[in-house]
Order: sequence, then structure tokens, then C-alpha cells
Amino acid sequence: MAVQWSRSGLDLHLQTSTGEGLRAGLEVALRDAVRSGRLPPGTRLPSSRTLASDLGVSRGTVTQALDQLVAEGYLESKPRSGLRVAPQPAPPVETPRPSHATLPAVPGIDLRSGFPDLAVFPRRQWLAATRHILRTAPNTAFGYRDRSGAVELRQALAEYLGRARGVAAAPAHIVVCAGYAHALRLVCQVLRHHAGAGSVIVFEDPTEPDYPELVEQLGHRARRLPVDDDGLIVDRLTDESAVVVTPAHQYPLGVTLSPARRVELVSWARRSGGFIVEDDYDGEFRYDRRPVGALQGMASDRVIYVGTTSKTIAPGLRLAWLVLPGGLVTPLQEATRWDESYVNVIDQLVLTRLIQTGELDRHIRHCRTRYRRRRDLLGQAVTERLPYARLSGIAAGLHAVLQLPDQAGSEASLLGHLERRGVHVEGLSPFYHQRQNAPPAIVIGYATPAEHTFRHALGTLVDALRERMPTAPG
Ligand SMILES: Cc1ncc(COP(=O)(O)O)c(C=O)c1O
Repeated sequence: MAVQWSRSGLDLHLQTSTGEGLRAGLEVALRDAVRSGRLPPGTRLPSSRTLASDLGVSRGTVTQALDQLVAEGYLESKPRSGLRVAPQPAPPVETPRPSHATLPAVPGIDLRSGFPDLAVFPRRQWLAATRHILRTAPNTAFGYRDRSGAVELRQALAEYLGRARGVAAAPAHIVVCAGYAHALRLVCQVLRHHAGAGSVIVFEDPTEPDYPELVEQLGHRARRLPVDDDGLIVDRLTDESAVVVTPAHQYPLGVTLSPARRVELVSWARRSGGFIVEDDYDGEFRYDRRPVGALQGMASDRVIYVGTTSKTIAPGLRLAWLVLPGGLVTPLQEATRWDESYVNVIDQLVLTRLIQTGELDRHIRHCRTRYRRRRDLLGQAVTERLPYARLSGIAAGLHAVLQLPDQAGSEASLLGHLERRGVHVEGLSPFYHQRQNAPPAIVIGYATPAEHTFRHALGTLVDALRERMPTAPG
């Protein structure tokens, strides 16, 4: 027997089996609901009078059942607020291996890479744009939408990407998706049709390790090719079906793909029929000069461009986009046919509004000023106080790699030392296919700490590093 009752606008649904007596059935149903977490601690229960009337049983039966559950510790009686679900022992939780996207918070100074400064999320502008959308959007806006994304957003992105990143994008070639990893998943699905299962996708070495793992899970083979000061060493490519690159700011080393390598990479793609996946994850943030335009602008027929709001606004938005070569538009739309992880339309229209009003550009400029200052302070601290260390790559993005002398000790012992001083950074080695190939270095994410704590965070890191370089002068 399924029973439903309501009180003060709250509906509660209980499944009671028919075999037991009324009282026992009610006890079992409530116990199950509490144990399974469906009725979480603190949930207020209707009064015994209401329950009895909704269930069509005597009040005495209900009271006896509730008393039993109080005695067993499932419910508690609070003066003036009636019966509530009592606090329950927490069920054991399985802790997954922390991945790039799910770094748990750490106590102390968090200088791990991957996050923008979440304190500058444009709350006011987001709210104003949401108000505007809810006031002005027609009712039809909230129905099922084009799976490629709201046409308004695709039009705004075409304008923004052309202007800010040199991407040649017609709105019909843009697909809105739920983050870079989602984009990569869609690309893998398309490549399965194009090049067959088991095709080879090349990644830079070092790279974010989640991504090769993802493509292997989706049935492709991941291969790594090394990176030098000019970016990916392109002449080792042969007949792979795709290569994934971070040309504006190699992740994590921070170099750019040189003009000669860009030309070489595009001619490889044209010659072999392979595709280039351009991960433009932080291309808006360059501090020493104007950002280099996207590779896609050189070869819109061979480059699958992916951009994201994860660095410019916040990763929690899960809002990103692909710009596709013409020949991949229909196959990718086919791939999204069974894909339900598309972005909700209100967020899409809010972002559209932020682009149209210039608020996104203003926000990015504000962040750029802030991150540039932090990158400058980091550079200055390294020059003045860590003379045996060197920052690699260009002044850009939200992170930098600090190359260390051998005296700093093994990566594990150095990270342990920094943690004891309250500083959390990542070592470089997990980004390499063969960890032993990594030079001694740490990856410093400088965007995460709150603005007023940044100097202290940096000072603590540098002091702790100096303790590992006892011969450092100054
Ligand atoms: C190399 C790289 N690409 C892309 C992204 C963005 O990922 P997403 O859009 O899934 O948040 C990140 C995020 O940190 C990254 O490090």
C-alpha cells in the first residue's frame, strides 16, 4: 500500500507493505525512509493526529509506532517543535582518487593549480543578467532547445571568439557543452565514427593526466609526445586520428606553441587527415603582451576548438563550447542526440547577456589585472629570494611551473616539507607519462588564495622553499 500525506505544504510519501499489521507496517516504512536517507536528520514529521487522519488509522496506532521509533533513536521529540528525524550515524563514504576536477579543499594555503579566484565571481552582474532574462525571455525560451545550444549564445560566442581569440566561428559550427571534459568526450564519440574504435589520440607530455585516461575509457588509444620550449614536438606525428594541444599556454609547462610549430602542425593535419583539438583553457590571460590568437584561425577546417568559462568565470558553471570544422557539425550533433548533459538554458542566456553588454570583457580585464599582479609578485620573489630556481613558460594563465635545483630534494619530500609549513602545491611529475622524466619542479596555482592573503601565501611558500636551499644567498 502506498501512502501519501501532506502537511503545511509538505508531501511525504511512504511505501508500506500489506503483509504487516498497520502499526508494524508504518514502523518499517519510516525506519526504511530514515535509514536510506530519504528522510534526512532534522526533517519534521506531521503530528500524530494528521498522520492518523491521512492514513485512516487510529491515533493510538500512530502514536505507538512513533514512540517505538523514538525509542530506537530514529526520531526525537523536541519541545514545541514536535517530532523530527534524529541525527543518524554517517554511512561509510568511499573517497574517489582526487582528480583534477574534484580537488578537495585543504586547510592552510592552497596554491594548487586549476581554479580561478572564486571570490571574484561576478555575482552582481550574473544576478542583473538573470533578472533581465527572466523578465524578457519569451515563454518558448524555456522549452526543449536546440541541442547545439541556444542560438542566441552561439551568435554571441561567434562574435566574442572572433574578436577576442581570433577564432573563425559561424554560429552553426558552435556546440555549447558542459565543460572541456564533456567536449573531449563528444569529440571521442565523433572520432569513433570517423576513424573507428581504437584510433590513436595524441596528447602532450606533460599533460593533465585525466584526459588521456578519459579517451582510453572511451575506447581510443592515448599516446604522448614530448614538449620542448616551442611546444609539442610535431615532427613525431604520423597517422594518428587526432592530437590534443594547449597552444596558447601549454598545460602545465606554460610555453606557447611557436609559429613554426603551428604551421607544421596544420600541415600534418592537412596531409594526414587528422584533427587538431585546441584546448584554449586560459587563452584570455596573457600578461606580458597581447594574447596569441587561437590556432583555429589558421585552419578552421582541421581544428576543433574548445573554450570554457572554467578559468574566466568559475568551473562550477560547467559551461564551455566547441567550434567545429564544417564536416564534423552533423556527426557531432548525432553524438549529442543521446547526451543529456547539456547546459540549462537560463545559464546560456545569462552568459549571452554578459557577452552582449560587455560585462564578460570587463570581468576578464578585472581578473587579468589581478592575476598579472600576482604573477609579477611571484616572478619578483623568485628572482630576489630563490636565485637557484626558475619559472618556466610565459607570463600567462593562472599557474606557473617553478623549476628547482636538485638540492631541493625529492618531490615527495619537498611536498611533505611544504605541507608541514601549511602550503599545498602540486609536484610536476604526475603530469608526465613516465614520472621519472619530470625535472624537479612544482606547479603553483596563484589564482586561488583570497586577494588579501596572497602576499602572505607567497611569502610562506618562498620561506619554506628557502629552507630547502640552504646555500641560497640574500
Ligand atoms: C588543461 C585544461 N584544459 C581544460 C580545462 C577546463 O576544464 P573544464 O572546462 O572541464 O572545467 C582545465 C581545467 O582546469 C585544464 O587544466
